[in-house]
Amino acid sequence: MILSENNVFLLKNDNISYMFRVTEHGNLEHLHFGLPIQLGDVDALSVKYGTGWGSNSGPEGEEFPMYYPLEWSCLGTGDYRESPTEFAGEDPAGFKFSYAKTYEAIVPIKCSLPQARGKAETLEIVLAYVGGLTLHLFYTLFDTAITRRAVLVNNTDQPVTVTKLMSYMLDIQGDYEMTTFNGSWIAEMRSYRAKVGLSGIVNESTTGFSSALHNPGFILNEPGATEECGEVLGFNLIYSGNHYARVQKTNEGLTRITQGISPVDFEWVLKPTERFETPEGVLVYSNKGFGGMSENMHRFINEHIVPVTWQGKDRPILYNDWEGCMFNFNEAKLLSLAKKAKKLGCELFVLDDGWFGERDSDKAGLGDYDVNKKKLPNGLSGLQKKLENIGLSFGLWFEPEAVNPDSKLYRAHPEWALHANSGVTVLGRNELLLDLSKAEVRDYIVDNVSKCIDEGHVSYVKWDMNRHSTALGATAHKCVMGLYDVLNRIFTDRPEVLLESCSSGGNRFDLGMLCFSPQIWSSDDTDAVERFHIQYNLSYLYPLSTMGAHVSAAPHSQTLRDTPLTTRGNISFFGLLGYEFDLDELTPVETDEIMNQIEFYKEHRHTFQFGNFRRLKATEGISMQVSDGRETIVGLFHELVYAAPGYEKIYPVGLIQDKRYNVERSKQLQNASKFGGLLKVVLPVKVHPDGLVVRTAGKRYRMQDSVQTCSASGAALMSGLSLNARFMGTGYDPQMRMQGDFISNIYLLTEES
Ligand code: DGJ
Repeated sequence: MILSENNVFLLKNDNISYMFRVTEHGNLEHLHFGLPIQLGDVDALSVKYGTGWGSNSGPEGEEFPMYYPLEWSCLGTGDYRESPTEFAGEDPAGFKFSYAKTYEAIVPIKCSLPQARGKAETLEIVLAYVGGLTLHLFYTLFDTAITRRAVLVNNTDQPVTVTKLMSYMLDIQGDYEMTTFNGSWIAEMRSYRAKVGLSGIVNESTTGFSSALHNPGFILNEPGATEECGEVLGFNLIYSGNHYARVQKTNEGLTRITQGISPVDFEWVLKPTERFETPEGVLVYSNKGFGGMSENMHRFINEHIVPVTWQGKDRPILYNDWEGCMFNFNEAKLLSLAKKAKKLGCELFVLDDGWFGERDSDKAGLGDYDVNKKKLPNGLSGLQKKLENIGLSFGLWFEPEAVNPDSKLYRAHPEWALHANSGVTVLGRNELLLDLSKAEVRDYIVDNVSKCIDEGHVSYVKWDMNRHSTALGATAHKCVMGLYDVLNRIFTDRPEVLLESCSSGGNRFDLGMLCFSPQIWSSDDTDAVERFHIQYNLSYLYPLSTMGAHVSAAPHSQTLRDTPLTTRGNISFFGLLGYEFDLDELTPVETDEIMNQIEFYKEHRHTFQFGNFRRLKATEGISMQVSDGRETIVGLFHELVYAAPGYEKIYPVGLIQDKRYNVERSKQLQNASKFGGLLKVVLPVKVHPDGLVVRTAGKRYRMQDSVQTCSASGAALMSGLSLNARFMGTGYDPQMRMQGDFISNIYLLTEES
C-alpha cells in the first residue's frame, strides 16, 4: 500500500517499506528503506541535524543545509556528494517538490525501455526545476522490491541538453561493504568486495552494453553480514547499455547510492515538450543476510521481470551443436546428433552459428539470412520436420545486431554499420555493429529474423552478440533502445518462442535482456568447475531459472581440465541443464550416465529451476541447495582434494525442525583408470592402469561409490548431516565416498509423509 500524510510518503507491504518526507523547503528527505514501518515513525527516523557542521552550505533561507539523506539532489546546491542530474550550461538551482500522485498499478514507460511487470502500486513525485523543467520520480512497490526511475520533461520553450540523469539516488545511514561482479569473456562474475569509503566505489560499463566487465548489479552489506543474518541490500538496473553506479560514504555517516545510464560522453538534447525516460532501477532489502537478499531478488525476477509466458514454466533440456561441430556440419551430422540427443532425453535441438550465408568461419556471412544450402539442402523447414519426427523441437541461433564486412548485407549497405565516434573502424570478432538507431536497420532485422522463425517453426531462439561497441553517450543509448524495439516487435507476437540471450556468454547478463529472454547463456566458459563459480556468483542477483549452463566435453577445451561427468552434470543441475559436445563420441557408459542425469533432472526440474535457493555453509568445499518445501536438494562441490580429510557435514537450511526427512545421496561415478597403481593392488589380475584393458573397460564401466541413506528430523539435518567418510587410501569400506579432484555429490532430502 502507499500511504501519505502531512507530506510524508510511505510505500509498504509485509516484506519491505520505503519512506520519505517533503521538508519545509521543498526538498525530499529520505527516511527509511527496510523492514515494514509506520507513518508515525518519522520523528524516530529523521536525522537530527543540531547546529550542524561549520563547513556546510545550502541555498539561501534554508537553515538546514544539504547534508542530510535526500531522495534527489543537484549540483550547485551545497550538496557536494555525487549528483544524479547534470545539464550543459544550465542554471544549477535545485528541484523542489510540486505534487504527488498514486496509482494502483505500474505506470508504463513511454519508450521502448523494458520495465518490471505484474501486480504493483506506484507513487509519482513531481519536482519542479526553477528553469521550468519537471522531474518525475516514480517509485513502484512490488512484493519484494522497490523500483525507481526518473523522467525529465521539458516544459520550457528552449531545448535543454542533459549530460547526466540517473535513475535513482538513495541516501542511507551507516557503513557498508560493496560487492561488484567484474570480469571479461570466459571470466564473468568474479566478485570483489570492498569497504565503501569517502571517495566511493564506481561500477560502470562503457562497452556499449551492460558487459561482463562490470555487471550492473551490486550488493551493499553491513559489515559482518552472513548468508543468513544481517542487513543486505541488492541493486540492479533494467538496462543493457552503458551503465554507471557510484556508492559513496560521507563524513557525516551517510552512504549515497546513484545508478543509471553512464554519463560518459552523454549529451541528450531535449526539445520543448519532449521527455527523457531513464531505465528502472531495482532496490531490494533483507535483514536475513545475503541469502535473504538473493531470495527477494530471485522472486522479483521470476515474477516481475521474465516474460509472463515463461514465469514459473519449466525450461526444456536442450542439446546445442556449437561445441561439438562449430561451423563444420551438414544435415546428416545434425540428424545423427539429434537422434542421440533424443535417446539421452533431450527435448530441444539447437542449431548454433554457421547455418546461413557464406558462414564457414566467423570471418564472413553475418548479416545474411539465406540458408547455406551446402550444409542444409532442405532448408530450415526441412531440418525442422526431421527433428520433429525424431521427437525434438527446433532452436536456432542468430546474431542480428552485427555484420561481417564480408557479407552481402555490408556490400549492399555499408552505411548501416556503426562506426566509432572517432571515425576509426574498430572490428571485434571480425564484425561491425549495425546502427540500430536507424529504422531501416531495425526493419531489416525484424523481417528476416521473423521470417526464419516462422519458416523453420522455431520454438527457441539463441540471440547472440559477440563484440563490444565503441559507441558512447546518446548514440549507444539509441542503439540499445533500437534493440529493445526489435525484440519487442519480434517476440511480443511470438510469446511461445523461448528466447535465450547470449553475448559471447555472459557479456549482457542483465535485467533488460531478461525482460525479453527468460534465460541467458551464463558463459562461454563451459568448463564445469570454472562455470560453477560463475553460476555461484550469478546466484547472488539472478535466479537459477535464468542461467544457461551446459555440460561440455572433458578434458575441457579452454582449461584442459578433466572433470568427472558426474560433477559436470551436478553443476549444470544448478542452472538450466543442456549438453554441448559431439555426442557421436560418447561411450556406452557415458550415454548411460547422461540418461540417468537427465532422468533425475526431469524429476526435480521445477525445484532446480524455481525452488527457493540458498548458498550453504559447508565443512569443506562449496555447497548450495534448492527447495520446494517438500523436497530439498543439496549440492556439495569439491575442487582439489587433500589427504587425510576430517569429518564432514552439510548444513541444509529452511527445513521444518520436527518433520522427518528421508536422505539419499547420489552416486559419484569415476573412471577406473583414475585409481592408477591401486588397481594392481585390488584386482586379482595384473593390469596396466593406462593399458588397453583398463581403457576398454572404461568405456563400459565406472567405479561407483555408495549411496548414503538415512532418515532424520529437520532439526538434526540443519545441525549438520554427517557425511560418509572419504576414501583416503587406507583400505576399502563399501560405505565410503570415492573422491578425487573436482568431485561432487547431490543429497536429496524428501519430507516423510
Ligand atoms: C558465442 C556464444 O557464446 C557461443 O555459445 C556460440 O554461440 C558462438 N558465439 C557462435 O559464434
